[in-house]
Amino acid sequence: MKTRKPMVAGNWKMNKGLYATRDLLRELVPALSDVEGVDVVVCPPFVGLGVANRELGSSSIKLGAQNLHWEESGAFTGEISPSMVKDLCDFVIIGHSERRAMFGETDESVNKKVHAALKVGLSPIVCVGETLEENKSGQTGEVVSRQVREGLAGVEPEQAVKLIIAYEPVWAIGTGLAATPEGANAVHRDVIRPILGELFGDKIGNGMRILYGGSVKADNAKELFDQSDIDGGLIGGASLKVDSFVSIVQAA
Ligand code: 13P
Repeated sequence: MKTRKPMVAGNWKMNKGLYATRDLLRELVPALSDVEGVDVVVCPPFVGLGVANRELGSSSIKLGAQNLHWEESGAFTGEISPSMVKDLCDFVIIGHSERRAMFGETDESVNKKVHAALKVGLSPIVCVGETLEENKSGQTGEVVSRQVREGLAGVEPEQAVKLIIAYEPVWAIGTGLAATPEGANAVHRDVIRPILGELFGDKIGNGMRILYGGSVKADNAKELFDQSDIDGGLIGGASLKVDSFVSIVQAA
């Protein structure tokens, strides 16, 4: 019996502008109004956060951003600070593999962002995961351990309760080829969970949620979420449609 409350977070990536965000939420909020026992988070692009915050109103769906900068203010053209995010959101995705691959994010920048987010009271959803090449050469454990250890370096146990980890194998993202439930669970249970225990103590580590992401769909969600250490999902493509996102939330 799992004691961790499951979470399903939708990462909309660079999809849905202001009006499309409003329209999607006007359908999603009523469709999820009677869901209980699962934390639901939606993460639209920055320009949709204001309207999303208004649309969500008193709904139990929470709002997240997809990135932030670690500095509080200043000459950082194009960046958004932790407190700007916190004005609108409770959650923030940090270190998504697309940002690592295309925008130069490293374990070091992920760590700075994690600290900055925690400092203003945001809950970071920290993404880790190996590439296809790393997977094929048997480096999954090593890569994911390094990302978790370096990404969370210096975080205190009392802050860690706000943290969520998302294991997203890069080869499973947007490919339709999800990890097998057993394979993903093995990484959660045997690689990530023991490190959380080591860093923050077993009690806190066992209470922290580890989400799986990468081609989660309505038809494979339940099998994944049934695993002992898969505490929900970080959903890309399937979070953009009301029907599939609602089914995934129901599976959790
Ligand atoms: P897909 O669900 O589209 O594979 O994307 C997963 C993801 O990257 C979520 O952050």
